[in-house]
Amino acid sequence: MPDLLLGQVLSFTADPFEAGETAAHHESHGAVLVEGGRITATGPAETLRARHPQARIHDYGRCLITAGFIDAHVHYPQTAMIASWGKRLIDWLNTYTFPEEMRFADPAYAAEIADRYLDLATAHGTTTVCTYTTIHPASVDAIFTAAQSRGMRIYAGKTCMDRNAPEGLRDTAQSAYDESKRLLEKWHGQDRLSYVITPRFSPTSTPEQLAAMGALWREYPDCLMQTHLSEQVDEIAWVRDLFPQSRDYLDTYESQGLLREGALYGHAIHLTEREKSRLIEAGASLVHCPTSNTFIGSGLFDMGLARHLRVGLATDTGGGSSFSMLHTMAAAYEIAQLRGHALHPSQLIWLATVGSARALHAETRIGNIAPGMEADLTILDLASTPAIEQATRRAQTIWEALFPTIMMGDDRAVRTVWIGGKPLR
Ligand code: GUN
Ligand code: ZN
Repeated sequence: MPDLLLGQVLSFTADPFEAGETAAHHESHGAVLVEGGRITATGPAETLRARHPQARIHDYGRCLITAGFIDAHVHYPQTAMIASWGKRLIDWLNTYTFPEEMRFADPAYAAEIADRYLDLATAHGTTTVCTYTTIHPASVDAIFTAAQSRGMRIYAGKTCMDRNAPEGLRDTAQSAYDESKRLLEKWHGQDRLSYVITPRFSPTSTPEQLAAMGALWREYPDCLMQTHLSEQVDEIAWVRDLFPQSRDYLDTYESQGLLREGALYGHAIHLTEREKSRLIEAGASLVHCPTSNTFIGSGLFDMGLARHLRVGLATDTGGGSSFSMLHTMAAAYEIAQLRGHALHPSQLIWLATVGSARALHAETRIGNIAPGMEADLTILDLASTPAIEQATRRAQTIWEALFPTIMMGDDRAVRTVWIGGKPLR
């Protein structure tokens, strides 16, 4: 039996960075018909009710139905150490991150955190994530197993590091290649799961390991590849010392076959002109992680790049200080304000849905509400707290009604999510 979800419905017919707010379509009394895991129709509630009298009705009242949020860069193993105080990137990795990631040598711990992480992500309205893991193959099995049991479309891969990490948290060029390949063969394309080739970043990979990752990517060209690029100034200086022969940070990847369409670079804040033009020419994706960039003190991402290449939005849990894509949109707004530009609410919600889907090359499947798309949906209560409710009372437009939830909302604003055509709760 089909399901018919009723509420306000927000979808996109174009890119709001190009077409402005007319790129969005808002149906004030709308409906979304879901059948067999997919969206099969959308339109005015009256019309769809009349056409599908047999459908099971889910009336969400004045709640807003959007595509499920897509978090394009997270580290699920950092769930338990989110909000750790007082360090910048390299010290933060050594002090907090690496000791926590060591614990994933225990498969039972990996399974516990994978479940905890996906429960938190979905409670915050996120239906797809693209996540790093740890060097341990069991950490990959844990997150794919947890996502598969929830019916989620997720992206993940073994984090590879063969230097500048503690004993017990290093693989080798060969073992990283062998284990990544085995995990890729095991998981890629199973149900809604996709494997992502994942060298952590140039400081923790030898040129030999980056070359091995490049070789693996040539063997499996339809996979994505994710890594970090130019997050902090000290990190860039370190890369210069470690790779004296490279033109710049991007070149450490480019020279090993790790720059082309399907490459996802997290952060990408302090880019040279050469790096920007090569990223654009190559058709790479950038992932903006705004709460992380302020929390670890990295810098201000240039959202102007969204006019030239695919830009996704992400929490970067636990360098980021939140599991919430609403908080993440708010932080993206504030960073753009500091750079002298106000992002429109349509652009913020687009980044968290279509934008991230495009970054992951998944925009024909997820990230929007349209017939044929997979039915991953987030139902937002636009008056979830007294503070938000009073701020929306004079709203004349959907954007005025939505913006207080973007700026002040959290998991209390998420009434529920639908994943693969099924309600979570
Ligand atoms: N660069 C390399 N590893 C990491 C990580 O775990 N988090 C962040 N924010 N940056 C990184
Ligand atoms: Zn990261």
